Amino acid sequence: MKKRSNFSGKLGFVLAAAGSAVGLGNLWRFPYLAARYGGGIFLLVYLILAVTFGFSLMIAEISLGRKTGLSAIGAFKKLNQKYTFIGYLASLVPIIILPYYSVIGGWVIKYFTAFISGQASAAADDLYFGTFISKPVEPVIWLAVFILATAVVVYNGVEKGIEKVSKTLMPLLVILTIGIAIYSVTLPGAGAGLIYYLKPDFQHFSMKTVVAAMGQLFYSMSLAMGIMITYGSYMKKDVNLEKSVSQIEFFDTGIAFFAGMMIVPSVFVFNGGDGAAINAGPGLMFVTLPKVFQSMPMGTLIGALFFVLVLFAALTSSISLMETIVSIVCDKTHWSRKMATVIITIYTLAIALPSSLGFGIWSHITPMGMSFLDFFDFISNSILMPIVAFLTCFFIGYVIKPTAISEEVKLNAPFRREKLFVVMIKYVAPICIIIILVSSILSALGLLVI
Ligand code: PHE
Repeated sequence: MKKRSNFSGKLGFVLAAAGSAVGLGNLWRFPYLAARYGGGIFLLVYLILAVTFGFSLMIAEISLGRKTGLSAIGAFKKLNQKYTFIGYLASLVPIIILPYYSVIGGWVIKYFTAFISGQASAAADDLYFGTFISKPVEPVIWLAVFILATAVVVYNGVEKGIEKVSKTLMPLLVILTIGIAIYSVTLPGAGAGLIYYLKPDFQHFSMKTVVAAMGQLFYSMSLAMGIMITYGSYMKKDVNLEKSVSQIEFFDTGIAFFAGMMIVPSVFVFNGGDGAAINAGPGLMFVTLPKVFQSMPMGTLIGALFFVLVLFAALTSSISLMETIVSIVCDKTHWSRKMATVIITIYTLAIALPSSLGFGIWSHITPMGMSFLDFFDFISNSILMPIVAFLTCFFIGYVIKPTAISEEVKLNAPFRREKLFVVMIKYVAPICIIIILVSSILSALGLLVI
């Protein structure tokens, strides 16, 4: 076996894992879910899950990787051959996510080009977004551009170069997001929105809040899809694992928090926070932000800069998704890396197509009552990822036992939250995941109102 390269230094690992974690999940997905599922109550549930579930699962996955030095499939196989299937299931997740991720990536490119070509004020119009995504050809061109950009990097194996660039761009994105968030909440009328976003209102609580928050947690932190296992396999033994996990979580959650603050209160400013606007779903960022930029001095410039930075964050994530798929395919077939990349690119284009057309000419086809994009998002985030997370908890709690993980964490530092970890992995997480999974499936089938 080839020797695995390691991340240099302690910060190297945290930055690389944060690079995969921070993406459209934080900037695009978190704000629309927070708006849709009750604002403050969603935020509260998310934060509680992040420091309990998210923490435990990320510790578990990174330790599995570092302990075995292998990616998901190999890691489960090495520890207990009977459970190799968990690795396979986890690997399915990126295969489902990448195509629809590319659709959103395409939307980001479109908005970037709109801002640099003097259409900033047109983009602020209520109808602009809906008109654009329902077109049959234009969104497909942009998603193809996004996929090809991702594929070129993976094909040439130059991810490292891109990661370097994104390390300088990422802090800029953070600063800009915080800046825009501060600007948004000072707009006249933002107060009510800020209260909606920050103050938990238990009347808005439902099982759906928990289902959505949990799916978002997996998605945003790149959990339950084998990615953190792979990252862990590259981590040096002398890095403090628990501290690194806390740092990645802090970074990822912080960006999501400010992204929500930048978008949710603005909905109240520009649309009075009415039900339909709050419920806008996947389009929320694209509908709301251009209005914020329009109201701002130098808004066109700031908007263009913002969308190009979001594009970079999205590309680093899509590259790591495609890279993961390519390495799985290469391991299992005898294809060359280039051949695998070409085939996966064609697959991604083909599957992305319905997700895009589902907003226009194919909007009458609604699997399980959802648009194609929502459907793929539901299958991966609300079904597959909870299953993988459950199986991972079961595997660690009852097959290899939590001490196998604790030993790895304790290699160079005390495991401060070991008790929390053990209780979460053995009892709380698996029980909660099952309840959530069953209720989300029943509600999707229309058998349960939650
Ligand atoms: N976590 C990324 C995001 O928030 C999505 C992603 C998942 C990226 C898995 C890579 C791998 O956008």
